[in-house]
Amino acid sequence: MEFSIKSGSPEKQRSACVVVGVFEARKFSAAAECIDRAANKFLSEILQRGDMEGKAGTSLLLHKVPGVAADRVLLIGLGKEKEFREKEYLAAISAALRQLNQTGSADATLCLTELNVKKRDTSWNIRQAAIMVSETLYRSDCLKSKKDESTRPLRKLSFCVARRNELPAAETALAQGVAIAAGIDLTKTLGNLPGNICTPSYLADQAKDLAKTLGLDAQILERQEMEKLGMHSLLSVARGSHQAPKFIILRHTGGTPGDKPVVLVGKGITFDSGGISLKPGAEMDEMKYDMCGAASVLGTFKALALMKLPLNVVGIIPASENMPGGAATKPGDIVTSMSGQTIEILNTDAEGRLVLCDALTYAERFTPDCVVDIATLTGACVVALGNVASGLLANNDSLATELLDAGQEAYDRAWQLPLWDEYDEQLKSNFADMANIGGKAAGTITAACFLGRYTHKYPWAHLDIAGTAWRSGKEKGATGRPVPLLSQFLIARADNATDAQKTTGKRKRK
Ligand code: BES
Ligand code: MN
Ligand code: ZN
Repeated sequence: MEFSIKSGSPEKQRSACVVVGVFEARKFSAAAECIDRAANKFLSEILQRGDMEGKAGTSLLLHKVPGVAADRVLLIGLGKEKEFREKEYLAAISAALRQLNQTGSADATLCLTELNVKKRDTSWNIRQAAIMVSETLYRSDCLKSKKDESTRPLRKLSFCVARRNELPAAETALAQGVAIAAGIDLTKTLGNLPGNICTPSYLADQAKDLAKTLGLDAQILERQEMEKLGMHSLLSVARGSHQAPKFIILRHTGGTPGDKPVVLVGKGITFDSGGISLKPGAEMDEMKYDMCGAASVLGTFKALALMKLPLNVVGIIPASENMPGGAATKPGDIVTSMSGQTIEILNTDAEGRLVLCDALTYAERFTPDCVVDIATLTGACVVALGNVASGLLANNDSLATELLDAGQEAYDRAWQLPLWDEYDEQLKSNFADMANIGGKAAGTITAACFLGRYTHKYPWAHLDIAGTAWRSGKEKGATGRPVPLLSQFLIARADNATDAQKTTGKRKRK
């Protein structure tokens, strides 16, 4: 899709279709009002005949509207104006796209971006519209022998802004939206791939490809090197699998040399059978999604590189399968992590923390400004927060606030859970420094407490995306979350860094 931004009267837009909104009950948006005026109340008359109320989810396509330059006018129902918020706005954009694709329009002008969404500005509207368009057009048919053959002629889409002076900010927002959408797309595609294709080696190849096409640096550590580094916790997870584990390191050096990097760590379990503590059969296929943390790191790097953000960012992906087998780790086995701390593995299905802890120790060598790990870590998080919010736990309040704010801004929200010492006691082991499980209660928190034992050297936050990374059931599929949150977090950091540079003439973060 080719996107552009326009300002100017909707009735004068020369395109195959101009899209405007109508609220309940038959209340025109500003753009619809303009068209109605130019068309000598043509729209008012049609609505009065009862063809459209403005209810959310409805639409009406009109041809050859008098006084209007576009071939078609598409009216999109927006629901009650008082209740028009983010969710309603995004649904309207998505509905418009689906309707447009059923017309013969090759290009269209979308005036919905001018609508007033509570507490949001034009930049937000534009950025989210670009992301929503890509979300609506996404198909996971790369492994189907017959592709979805519905005709989709739409090639060019213009977003409208009300005033000319909004154009520069809107252009920036559009570029961000397009970059983030590309990142989300990659994350979804990787997530949806089956475990027999998307193996640790496949993820490593993806990282190398990404590095090549986007000017990043990629490095892959093999089993031998991991052994040398003492990553026996990570390696204990890989023991039952025939797939070689990979330790992936990606670097984007957009910042000043010497600036401390943001480090993103993504759980890359390409299939989680549970290992010897085997999972029950129902829905086990969904454990191909256990690499969605890794996929979100790759997706965020794509967005970050496309936006050319002036930041230093390191991505770390510990990738492995978790399988049962003759050589697999057994409940009760004790391993020594790279940090030197010993772990009694009471449940081989709590493997995410075992690969992450060594990655978190490895992160120390970058003297990070902060570390954020992203993981489909606990079923308990799905119970606590469902598929609306990602779980957030952190050892640093200002980092937590930054991430929560970014989630709000991107409408990809997270919710903080406490990381108190009292919970950490649940990890006591009679035989090692810690156990890898903390019992039934507060599973998301004790998992984070485990990771917390490896992150004393830097500000750290953990995003549990077990409930948000994919949808189950009929609509099964990866969501691309939390790429929007992470991208926004980095955009805000880049903005801060440039502001600081402008005001003081030198770098802010040391
Ligand atoms: N990948 C799973 C977590 C998961 C389960 C995410 C279901 C989404 C849906 C993780 O490796 C796991 O198995 N966690 C265990 C931990 C338990 C053994 C302490 C869990 O949540 O049951
Ligand atoms: Mn598991
Ligand atoms: Zn897992």
